[in-house]
Amino acid sequence: MSEIILEVEGLCKYFGGVKAVDGIQLKIPEHKIQAIIGPNGAGKSTTLNLLSGTYFPTAGNIKFRGKDVSSLALHQRVHLGIARTFQKIRLFKQLSVLDNVIAGFHIHHKIPFWEYIIPAGAFKKDRQDCQKEAMDLLEFVGLAHRANDRAGSLAYGQQRLLEIARALATRPQLFMLDEPAAGLNDTEVQFLMDRLISLKNQGMTIVVVEHNMKLVMNVADQIFVMDHGEYLFDGVPSEVQSNPKVIAAYLGADIEVDHE
Ligand SMILES: Nc1ncnc2c1ncn2[C@@H]1O[C@H](COP(=O)(O)OP(=O)(O)O)[C@@H](O)[C@H]1O
Ligand SMILES: [Mg+2]
Repeated sequence: MSEIILEVEGLCKYFGGVKAVDGIQLKIPEHKIQAIIGPNGAGKSTTLNLLSGTYFPTAGNIKFRGKDVSSLALHQRVHLGIARTFQKIRLFKQLSVLDNVIAGFHIHHKIPFWEYIIPAGAFKKDRQDCQKEAMDLLEFVGLAHRANDRAGSLAYGQQRLLEIARALATRPQLFMLDEPAAGLNDTEVQFLMDRLISLKNQGMTIVVVEHNMKLVMNVADQIFVMDHGEYLFDGVPSEVQSNPKVIAAYLGADIEVDHE
């Protein structure tokens, strides 16, 4: 049995009268891929925002490795080993692809990240180490050949992969992604699936909010289904695909799944 890395109890987030998340319980085991699915407006992004510290809950608590992190801010959770990507791309578009990843390393060092980008004296060695690791991450997401290009010049799918590399630079144990496959073509989705599985095999725990059912059904170990801010169902992909409540609320049509 895996350890539980993240445990959520009675999680709620209300925006005025809108119950975006309403009483969610969730236990995420280590070294697995946990998917969160549900119709638009179900509360998936809000859940990820609560788990990552982007928002604070109206009620409920979140434990990371048994420690209550509910009141910790995003950067404090990053230090504990929690990282995320956003549904909308957030890159330093004027900086190079490489410098975007290097910026992701700064939380592990005492000096501010801009000193990596404009290096001086004693920091040069540190920057060289970061540069090597950043290049390895770019290699991992297939962008090493674009290292010196402006981030803003990358195609959309490549920008999403760069965001992943930058988040990985914080060396997370728990990595959360909000709709990473949105706007990717089939080849890019296939590549993303392969990378997520590779991260899991390296020992990472992944939480992925995603609409792309091919990705979800092929990579997720467990799927949590939400609707109207509430729990609807959870189970392994085959259980979710055949559950009448899930089909009625969300899935409907056929789902394409690779059987390998
Ligand atoms: N910052 C916010 N302020 C007000 N309402 C919000 C905010 N964020 C989300 N909501 C509302 O909460 C509900 C859930 O949204 P969201 O978590 O983005 O859903 P999903 O990611 O599943 O599509 C929606 O009704 C949305 O309009
Ligand atoms: Mg969303």
